[in-house]
Amino acid sequence: MATLEIRDLHVSVEADNATKEILKGVDLTVKQGETHAIMGPNGSGKSTLAYSLAGHPKYTITGGTVTLDGEDVLEMSVDERARAGVFLAMQYPVEIPGVSVSNFLRTSATAVRGEAPKLRTWVKEVKEAMERLNMDPAFAERNVNEGFSGGEKKRHEILQLELLRPKIAILDETDSGLDVDALRIVSEGVNRVRESGEVGTLLITHYTRILRYIKPDFVHVFSAGRIVESGGPELADKLENEGYESYTKGGVSA
Ligand SMILES: Nc1ncnc2c1ncn2[C@@H]1O[C@H](COP(=O)(O)OP(=O)(O)OP(=O)(O)O)[C@@H](O)[C@H]1O
Ligand SMILES: [Mg+2]
Repeated sequence: MATLEIRDLHVSVEADNATKEILKGVDLTVKQGETHAIMGPNGSGKSTLAYSLAGHPKYTITGGTVTLDGEDVLEMSVDERARAGVFLAMQYPVEIPGVSVSNFLRTSATAVRGEAPKLRTWVKEVKEAMERLNMDPAFAERNVNEGFSGGEKKRHEILQLELLRPKIAILDETDSGLDVDALRIVSEGVNRVRESGEVGTLLITHYTRILRYIKPDFVHVFSAGRIVESGGPELADKLENEGYESYTKGGVSA
């Protein structure tokens, strides 16, 4: 069982020649097979946590540890993290001009699997995964995220998730901007990967809508750079009804 352990994580960014601490002691353990939802107000540091785990160079780790099965994740390069099984679906996926979806997926799969997938089975694998996500096959030849609609970008993230089969999947607002049908299709994709029991999922979201499709085992409230409360799925309903005021009141939210 793979386990991601985040202990007292502190992260800063350099902005306007000043260092700003964003994560102020995050503690979280995610095991393979578990689904954790993280909810919290805008600017509380959720995406910063996601980027820090994936190794974005903009974020400086100033304290704490992150390990995957005891291995120091913070020591790993971005590529090594991906190979170790950490996957990030970004809140705002970036365009990669000149690189087709098809090439991008094959390169990623080669890196993660340690060898190039056999072309014949690979083409079939991609085609079937795209069909399951109701994606037009023509997308395979388009440049990554170039001119993709918001919903198309999110489906492309889930396509990667299905093909790369990580140990730990961090999904940063994969539900935002999806229409009801797309939300269902994307959730089904996440659930397919989940049902394998081989992935631990960190689902960052603002809406309990997605939690109707993807049932979390744990819900965490993120506020001002740390987890301030953890509970079961019922916590999500409480947040939906009451908002975050009781967590941010009396303090600064970010
Ligand atoms: N590269 C950066 N440069 C400057 N400030 C940053 C940078 N990245 C994050 N921040 C700041 O850190 C804080 C947390 O941002 P983050 O994107 O992690 O929040 P979030 O919880 O994901 O919010 P949202 O719900 O709106 O997506 C914000 O105040 C943001 O402006
Ligand atoms: Mg965010």
